[in-house]
Amino acid sequence: MRMSRSVPGRVNEIPTPALVLDRATLDRNIARMATFFAGGPCRLRPHFKAHKTPEIAMRQLAAGSCSGLTCATVGEAEIAAGFCDDILLANEIVTPEKCARVAALARRVRVTAAVDSLAGLEALSRAARAAGVCIGVLVDLNVGQGRCGVEPGEAALTLARGAARSDGVELRGVMGYEGHLQPVRDRAERQSRTRQAMEGLVKTADQLRDAGMDCDIVSAGGTGTFDISGRIDGITEIQAGSYALMDTDYSSVGVPFEPAFWVLGTVVSRPTRERCVADCGHKSMTKDHSLPGVRGIEGATVTSLNDEHATIALPPDSTIAIGDRVELLPSHVDPTINLHDVFYVVEGPVVVDVWPIAARGYLEHRTRMEEPA
Ligand SMILES: Cc1ncc(COP(=O)(O)O)c(C=O)c1O
Repeated sequence: MRMSRSVPGRVNEIPTPALVLDRATLDRNIARMATFFAGGPCRLRPHFKAHKTPEIAMRQLAAGSCSGLTCATVGEAEIAAGFCDDILLANEIVTPEKCARVAALARRVRVTAAVDSLAGLEALSRAARAAGVCIGVLVDLNVGQGRCGVEPGEAALTLARGAARSDGVELRGVMGYEGHLQPVRDRAERQSRTRQAMEGLVKTADQLRDAGMDCDIVSAGGTGTFDISGRIDGITEIQAGSYALMDTDYSSVGVPFEPAFWVLGTVVSRPTRERCVADCGHKSMTKDHSLPGVRGIEGATVTSLNDEHATIALPPDSTIAIGDRVELLPSHVDPTINLHDVFYVVEGPVVVDVWPIAARGYLEHRTRMEEPA
């Protein structure tokens, strides 16, 4: 098996289980999203956490219409800072160690982080002051998901005032992720509930400005709502991530992107006419949203995933044999990709490149292990 990046092999030589990425489909998805935002005024800030792969992020940025990248973890931001100069950490960063790493990043690139508490704000401010840098902050609002975020209105204004008064941080605006609305299947319902959820975000942004505070950024959105939130007056950027690769969950929501990746497995057992078993279980793909789909075998369905086994119910005429390959379409992009080290990038049967999933896992522990004692 030739594995070096300069000498790619063929798909049937890839050791399994493995992640396979169809480059042409990826590029179509990226171009489609960039075109949607090309007319402005809202911009795209692709979420790096979906794929954690610099080569994909660089293609997203090169396609245009982007204000920078979104990250969920400090580790992702540290990798992204190698090729992107404007990073939003759309997440609460609160420990001194992580805040110090954010401050170190702020020396190299423009960094903005979400805050939803005075304690979090103070932790960032302290780290920024110690490093002599400025960290941007967005007040994170709960727009209905019920995860992080302060309530729109007065609670947000109080936190924003705290940010405006704090040294080392710069208030840059607000964000509110409508995560609970991404999977709503009915388009009309998704549209009306998203518009309603975004009202509180846009109104709070206006209240900040009326009170004399800065609010240049109003950040929201995901793959399920990009074309709803992305056309609401006052929203300045959309944090979509999954659109580049797609999963079966988002495919069933009916967004205009195609599946660009799959998990490749090898059939290791054909115990009956109705069933085969492949070597790609839930250690190679998540099943948190649902079991994966089967690509390219009409009528085949995955009936269970164990650690290292996918059991597949076959149509009666199936001739699939031990050693044959299967292609499974995961139900959820992010946790699947995080399980792998590389993407095998293909054009038809040819592996044209191998892309490291450089930001996978929790990098800080890996780095620590590699440091000399
Ligand atoms: C804060 C935040 N923004 C945006 C997204 C959108 O990501 P996607 O487009 O993959 O649904 C997510 C996904 O979980 C998120 O947590």
